[in-house]
Amino acid sequence: MNWSFGRKGTNLLLKNWGLLAFQMADPTPFRKHSYARGKRLSPRDFARLREIIPGVEPRLGRCDSGPRRGKTYPVAETNLVGNEREYLKQCIDSNWISSKGPFVDKFERAFAREAGCKHAVACANGTVALHLVLAALGIGPGDEVILPTFTMIATASAVHYTGATVKLVDSESVSFNIDPALIEHAITKKTRAIIVVHTYGHPADMLRLLEIANAHGLYLIEDAAEAHGAEISGKRVGSFGVAGTFSFYANKIITTGEGGMVTTNDAEFAQIVRRLRDHAFHPERHFWHEYVGFNYRMTNMQAAVGLAQTERIGEIIAARQRLRGWYDDRLGACSGLRLPHQSPGVQSVFWMYGVRVAPPFGCTSHVLREQLASCGIETRSFFVPMHIQPVHVDQFRGQSFPVAEDLCRSGLYLPTSEALSEQDVEWICENVCNIQRINSRSHNVNSSS
Ligand SMILES: Cc1ncc(COP(=O)(O)O)c(C=O)c1O
Repeated sequence: MNWSFGRKGTNLLLKNWGLLAFQMADPTPFRKHSYARGKRLSPRDFARLREIIPGVEPRLGRCDSGPRRGKTYPVAETNLVGNEREYLKQCIDSNWISSKGPFVDKFERAFAREAGCKHAVACANGTVALHLVLAALGIGPGDEVILPTFTMIATASAVHYTGATVKLVDSESVSFNIDPALIEHAITKKTRAIIVVHTYGHPADMLRLLEIANAHGLYLIEDAAEAHGAEISGKRVGSFGVAGTFSFYANKIITTGEGGMVTTNDAEFAQIVRRLRDHAFHPERHFWHEYVGFNYRMTNMQAAVGLAQTERIGEIIAARQRLRGWYDDRLGACSGLRLPHQSPGVQSVFWMYGVRVAPPFGCTSHVLREQLASCGIETRSFFVPMHIQPVHVDQFRGQSFPVAEDLCRSGLYLPTSEALSEQDVEWICENVCNIQRINSRSHNVNSSS
């Protein structure tokens, strides 16, 4: 038996163990990295912002009565009641489980039709859909991209990935969408694009935004992550700008678990996005790359679920609109609560039923959230604006976005899903109205004593 290899191997192993032990004892390589430290607000910044930002997430209890006694109302629920199971079975039976396979193409075609666009390119999620669009437009260091401060972090992160600079604009207080009247102040010689977000399913004012973008030679990108099927005068969001992006995360109007889509009417642009999504493989010569691409592909299994969901999108949107009517009817008389708005001529898809809590309600939005959570009703606070995120606060110090801050302070959304019945909504609303009655009574007693 030749032990020499064994001894050498053992020595090597001991050496490596030594190295491992050294690495575990010495935190230098990892802990020094900024990701490990994160970025905290200074106590001064935190004191200034604590009135605006939501408190820690309330603990969810269980319903003690009502249609879901002993259970909870999650803020969003997935409803896989169409062909999802059958199409997934086809993926498994055929062995097509990665990004090759027929469902990706079928889903892209069906979704493009639904969005009123010529092309759709499926990808891994809504964040990378935005990154693909920005990359395909050649946006990079030295460029500026305008977006609303009132959005989810992904809109800003995608711009950061390209090395371009984020420029923020405040929102309209009624639609919660970027305020077109404020955009021109943010445009500079370096501005290349505007990303508009159709917030909580309500379309932004695309006609005015297109006018502004065209007048300044800027790309208009639609972040429609929350607005599948929303319309302006019968035209679907995602079909107005140079490109639209969608998310299919599990809480979205339609879902693939995780997933995203880029929509466009430009064939060449779609081709570039498609290539970037897939490591920029050359279409004719394999393992041949003319630029740096990404692996942002969607799997055949995700697309199978997406196709089944797209087949039911009309039903899903109709259910959300019904839900909005039930909520409006029961909360309309609840004083101090501002209900969601729908501008004339637009179809909002009410991704989330967002309400704002004003002083006559008798307590803050956070207290309302806590009290609903104790009854088993989960809610979500509105977005924390980009300019006060710890990661951005230094960049935007001194800039003022009062509408976004007020939305953050006062807004929350109630459970919104196709699975809710009218009785469910009635029970949720009873709880909201009871909380209002109790809190406004004690508020009045306290203020008169
Ligand atoms: C406005 C907006 N943009 C982008 C995204 C990112 O989508 P995803 O989570 O699929 O990456 C989201 C997700 O919630 C969103 O709400």
